[in-house]
Amino acid sequence: KLKVVTIGGGSSYTPELLEGFIKRYEELPISELWLVDVEAGKEKQDIIFDLCLRMIKRAGVPIALYKTLDRRAALVNADFVTTQLRVGQLKARELDERIPLSYGYLGQETNGAGGLFKGLRTIPVIFDIIKDVEEVCPEAWVINFTNPAGMVTEAVFRHTGFKKFIGVCNIPVGMKMFIREVLKVEPQDSLSIDLFGLNHMVFIKDVWVNGTSRFAELLEGVASGTLKASGVKNIFDLPFSAGLIRSLKLIPCSYLLYYFKQKEMLAIEMGEFYKGGARATVVQQVEKQLFDLYKNPELDVKPKELELRGGAYYSDAACEVISAIHNDRQTEHYVNFPHQGHIDNIPADWAIEMTCTIGRDGATPTPRIKHFDEKVLGLIYTIKSFEVAASEAALSGELNDVLLALNLNPLIHSDNDAERLARDMLLAHEAQLPNF
Ligand code: G6P
Ligand code: MN
Repeated sequence: KLKVVTIGGGSSYTPELLEGFIKRYEELPISELWLVDVEAGKEKQDIIFDLCLRMIKRAGVPIALYKTLDRRAALVNADFVTTQLRVGQLKARELDERIPLSYGYLGQETNGAGGLFKGLRTIPVIFDIIKDVEEVCPEAWVINFTNPAGMVTEAVFRHTGFKKFIGVCNIPVGMKMFIREVLKVEPQDSLSIDLFGLNHMVFIKDVWVNGTSRFAELLEGVASGTLKASGVKNIFDLPFSAGLIRSLKLIPCSYLLYYFKQKEMLAIEMGEFYKGGARATVVQQVEKQLFDLYKNPELDVKPKELELRGGAYYSDAACEVISAIHNDRQTEHYVNFPHQGHIDNIPADWAIEMTCTIGRDGATPTPRIKHFDEKVLGLIYTIKSFEVAASEAALSGELNDVLLALNLNPLIHSDNDAERLARDMLLAHEAQLPNF
């Protein structure tokens, strides 16, 4: 018996997660999958539930599917809890993106002011879920894909005693897929990547194909633009400058565009990319299109159109982690977890994105990089201080704590703006911020 409970089950991503479970049914024979959502998400939950039933039927696997709005009831005897929720749904994300933009600041759901407010709404809900898990199914593992995943993981390990929590993201997997493609690494060849940093702030430092480094070639290809850097659907694909790449000697993930090309990314956000809207506007259109497809009673697989979302392939990362725990695999995965002193030049209690070895007892940090490159350590420290301040603010509900987080963030350029922005955003999100 293997029971998985998915919180935020009405998400448009659920068919991808289920596809991952179906693909791995032999190694991960899930007997029960529960889709949990809240009243506001019920309509979507119903559509997703029906589609998932059809997918299960087509695959011919004996997974019993349930849907409920009663989280605690769903958690009884759960082995794994996955969290993929969005407090306030896409309307709230749109505010996170638009309000900072109205001050001339980047509007992004996991960075800057938008990331902060997403964190303020999300962290208390994740803590409630953890409390329920501790009371109802203390043996269960929580695999979190809820953003801002870095901030959420930091908050959980800093402010709760719960340890069976692992944060996942599709960025490292996506970068690995891109490298396999551009270096034309054959499927039978081994590829391993040395990366370091925080969630949505990772850098690749080396790349090994069958034990031989091919980093110089990759770096020069990315610098000169002959190997096109990997993108995600949610971030406008501007190339990093050749000089930046050659001088850093690191390959930054796409989210670093917001820091190294702040001016250009802002111009794009204000102008052509979103046509005066926001990523959330685009995503709402994509979602509408997806749910129209999902409603079709003939559809019984994950539709290709889901790849228009930035989170494509996240389920691979999640399913692999779940399978590694269930089967005591002792395999390496990129996850968000406290490094516990394995990195010698950052505080021992930080949660970071790194390689961990995963088995029955969860994640053990086994990062290949044990010393963060000094060139970008300043930036990483700044963002981690922001995440720490943000998690304090989420719990205290104090305006001053929100202001501290905003003022520490390098995407905000004025203390006066921070005050006005904080008040605007607190008001806009009032309904989802009960402790403020
Ligand atoms: C990336 C990130 C995810 C994020 C997604 C947004 O893949 O790793 O954490 O949720 O993009 O995509 P969206 O389609 O919602 O803009
Ligand atoms: Mn992510």
